[in-house]
Amino acid sequence: MPNSLKDTTTLHNGVKMPWMGLGVFKVEEGEEVVESVKAALKNGYISIDTAAIYGNEEGVGKAIKESGIPREDLFITTKLWNSEQGYEKTLKAFETSMKKLGLDYLDLYLIHWPGKDKYKDTWKAFEKLYKDGKIRAIGVSNFQVHHLEDLMSEAEVKPMVNQVEFHPHLTQKELLSFCKEQGIALEAWSPLKQGQLLDEPLLKEIAEKYNKSVAQVILRWDLQHGVITIPKSTKEYRIIENADVFDFELSQEEVEKIDRLNQDSRAGSHPDTLTKGFE
Ligand SMILES: NC(=O)c1ccc[n+]([C@@H]2O[C@H](COP(=O)([O-])OP(=O)(O)OC[C@H]3O[C@@H](n4cnc5c(N)ncnc54)[C@H](OP(=O)(O)O)[C@@H]3O)[C@@H](O)[C@H]2O)c1
Repeated sequence: MPNSLKDTTTLHNGVKMPWMGLGVFKVEEGEEVVESVKAALKNGYISIDTAAIYGNEEGVGKAIKESGIPREDLFITTKLWNSEQGYEKTLKAFETSMKKLGLDYLDLYLIHWPGKDKYKDTWKAFEKLYKDGKIRAIGVSNFQVHHLEDLMSEAEVKPMVNQVEFHPHLTQKELLSFCKEQGIALEAWSPLKQGQLLDEPLLKEIAEKYNKSVAQVILRWDLQHGVITIPKSTKEYRIIENADVFDFELSQEEVEKIDRLNQDSRAGSHPDTLTKGFE
């Protein structure tokens, strides 16, 4: 079990990835993202999750620089947007992201959504960037089991991470066990279901028992499932709160009770039907 924000899981290629990071979806480019990332880094976070489509890679890069933390102590993730899938476009989009971030290597690059027919060509470009040493780990996001099986049938490098929507209303049982069997780390996006779980009675009851918040109970449940998690907040007190999850442990029974809150319900899109950016 991780004991601090600096604790890592080892991906199947040996790269160490922090169990917890800060997400910056819907965080405005400019002061808002710079201040959020700086607040996280000041409070011990070393992992930041952005994406080209979030439009805030420059601010993330600025905050990294201004933090004064050595580059090699940080773990930075960005994602390739849907409209840029395909071999050549991916290579270009990667360079654009790196320029915006102001970095000379990336820790983790993800295919943001599978779409239907370009992810294998896209993956070839990911493999090239990985083999060229520009990215330490490559992975996917929003891939279902069938997407992973299809990709892996031709891939030379198996994805190291699959970042998917994961929270007590969407426990992704089959996908989680498939990824575990395959040695692919599962990473939870919208771990707090974008705030929609905060009034759930069971979570409130467990939170009271441990003198923790509902958000902390959910994030602890992620970690006890062996799932990497990247809650988003722009407020320093919540950034601190979300990381204060290393001093209590849910019982197995509580973990299972939380599992039973599953409704297969999503805050975001379904990977099989999302078309945004692919039209
Ligand atoms: N790969 C993908 O397709 C994908 C999709 C969505 C998200 N993501 C990644 O996953 C990250 C997290 O997901 P998310 O941003 O959608 O949602 P989330 O982390 O589940 O929830 C964020 C929301 O919860 C609030 N919040 C945060 N901490 C809280 C706390 N301790 N108590 C009460 N409210 C709290 C935040 O408000 P304040 O900011 O006001 O605190 C914000 O409204 C994203 O930022 C992004 O990096 C990836």
